[in-house]
Amino acid sequence: MKTIKDFYKMKSQSKPITMLTAYDFYSAQIAQQSEIDIVLVGDSLGNVIQGKENPITVSLADMIYHGEIVRRAATETFVIVDMPYMSYHLDITQTKKNASKIMIKTQANAVKIEGGSQSRIDAIKALIDCEIPVCAHLGLTPQSINILGDYKVQAQEKNEQEILLRQAIEIEKAGAFMLVIECVPEEVGKKITETLKIPTIGIGAGRYTDGQVLVWHDILGLTEKPAKFVKKYIDLKQILKDNVSLYVKETREREFPKIENVYFPKKK
Ligand code: KIV
Repeated sequence: MKTIKDFYKMKSQSKPITMLTAYDFYSAQIAQQSEIDIVLVGDSLGNVIQGKENPITVSLADMIYHGEIVRRAATETFVIVDMPYMSYHLDITQTKKNASKIMIKTQANAVKIEGGSQSRIDAIKALIDCEIPVCAHLGLTPQSINILGDYKVQAQEKNEQEILLRQAIEIEKAGAFMLVIECVPEEVGKKITETLKIPTIGIGAGRYTDGQVLVWHDILGLTEKPAKFVKKYIDLKQILKDNVSLYVKETREREFPKIENVYFPKKK
């Protein structure tokens, strides 16, 4: 299993770090077999598993449930589990308790939290202080949907870019080992990556971050309207529809099951 030290080394050697989300046993198993560096159990599971519009109602129990399943398959891969909305926002003691529940119950290697305000910096420091590695997340932070209004490219203006860079620097100082940067102009991803010593992982942050992360369902073509930054590697939805329809047809026409699919008593 790669460690935080390896990710720092990869950054220093300009070797891209690969991260992919996973939420269940087989997605995690395939990710591991594909030699992904990091599996992220994202709270995007609110969208792609639970069919919701955003991750706001994803609970700590949901994250632990999926994190534990993913770890069972991804035994040799670095696993990060997202802390859900409002599990690290209110009170430092509660933040520590919630993060430690995730770490112990899922056996994850780290947690991820969104945002760069002072309370997030304090949360990062508190978690590092109790030996919980933290990956931070800036730019488009889906848990901020009620403030942002909609999902759009962030930090388009100079002053917003300066704020983002300052927050990234504070996050590094606070002790985060990695930073996810989502949906910002390429030059913003590049500038933050060049400024920080910790690795940056981009999702819609251009070509110059230290690594890339995408959502499992997006790369497989299972989601309806993926963002511009997604590359759909296969139209799995169409393939699945075609084959499920074939099963329905064959069953209706009594073409399935065939002789090779049925059991007979043992011959005496
Ligand atoms: O929840 C998630 O899947 C994420 C990634 C998109 C970075 O945070």
